Amino acid sequence: MRILVCGGAGYIGSHACVVLAGLGHRVVVVDNFVNSSPRTLPCLQRIIGAPVEAHRLDLRDRDGLRALLAGSRFDAVMHFAALKAVGESCAQPLDYFDNNIGGTIALLQAMQDTGVRRLVFSSSATVYGEPEQVPVREDAPLSATNPYGRTKLVMEQMIGDLCRADPAFRAASLRYFNPVGAHPSGLIGEDPCGVPNNLMPYLCQVAAGRRERLRVFGGDYPTADGTGVRDYLHVMDLARAHADALDYLVRRERNLVVNLGTGRGTSVLELVRAFERVSGRRIPCEIVARRPGDVATLYADPARARRLLGWRARLGVPRMCRDAWHWQSLHPRGYADADVDAPAFV
Ligand code: NAD
Ligand code: WQD
Repeated sequence: MRILVCGGAGYIGSHACVVLAGLGHRVVVVDNFVNSSPRTLPCLQRIIGAPVEAHRLDLRDRDGLRALLAGSRFDAVMHFAALKAVGESCAQPLDYFDNNIGGTIALLQAMQDTGVRRLVFSSSATVYGEPEQVPVREDAPLSATNPYGRTKLVMEQMIGDLCRADPAFRAASLRYFNPVGAHPSGLIGEDPCGVPNNLMPYLCQVAAGRRERLRVFGGDYPTADGTGVRDYLHVMDLARAHADALDYLVRRERNLVVNLGTGRGTSVLELVRAFERVSGRRIPCEIVARRPGDVATLYADPARARRLLGWRARLGVPRMCRDAWHWQSLHPRGYADADVDAPAFV
């Protein structure tokens, strides 16, 4: 199939491109590089072993997007393109509504206008807000605790409304838990701009000597060791689920909302210890106050993904840490250390 990958230069989108290309699909990347480097593309090409068509485009550029979709026949769209920093979304909510919701409206309209009717959408466990119980099932109550989460909730709802209005439109909303790790080659990985907000990239930067110590947000949660528990999943497992979801849309011709997680919780300190074991580096830690908005424990019930997609996470925490560290140790400054030239765009 020919697949348009919006946000394909980003962390998860780039790993999805590798999986899709490996299955024989033709991927076309669209990205405005607001949170990624064009150098991702030559790195991707090295893994795939073939050129990757890419366009520098903002999804809100309606004319540009429509021209791209009208110019060649796409069988499906994968939509990773969004801003995702929770704290930033609280400081600049309108930017998040404009980029995430505005970009998605423009994309859905361009798809409708050009007859592209299959969508795989990056949703998030953030749509569960502060869940009443864990593991979280897809039928748990939904809510938003910050503007980023609100954009994911609204985008899921918009996509649901479109599916009801157009019975030929097929969509999969994939609710990711905590994606971490990197492609085993170490050629692509997570490269956050500025100070990382998320635990694994922060850990990696401490191990690489870029940051002095990890601040552990809260040591007094009602968990086994007092630190927050999350459902970390390997980005390659997550990437594979996108191919499975597309397959589901094509074969079953039904819409889909699924959790993607391992179903297992890991505490901050457990992740730190696992990382230390595989990297051989010591991670200095300091327990500080809780981060506002964090919950104690969050992990998925992944049974629906297993039942409908036949998908389950295969790679465990040690492998997640090993692959994250492999990427980071080869690229201490992220893509700035990649031995490639940035591609020229027209
Ligand atoms: P990322 O920032 O690495 O990738 C997103 C990509 O989209 C970037 O390359 C960015 O430049 C691009 N982009 C953003 N707005 C755009 C626009 N208007 N037009 C064109 N390109 C645009 O983030 P990621 O971690 O790869 O996340 C991918 C998706 O998964 C996002 O939608 C995110 O909300 C969702 N998600 C991520 C996580 C996580 O922990 N990483 C968890 C749950 C859900
Ligand atoms: C994990 C644990 C922190 C950093 C976020 C978004 C969510 C989703 C995934 C997109 C928590 C602790 C973290 C640090 C720490 N993204 N921590 N020190 O908060 O589960 O989820 O990313 O949809 O919407 O909210 O992930 O990696 O930030 O935190 O102690 O420097 O690590 O308190 O317990 P989170 P995270």
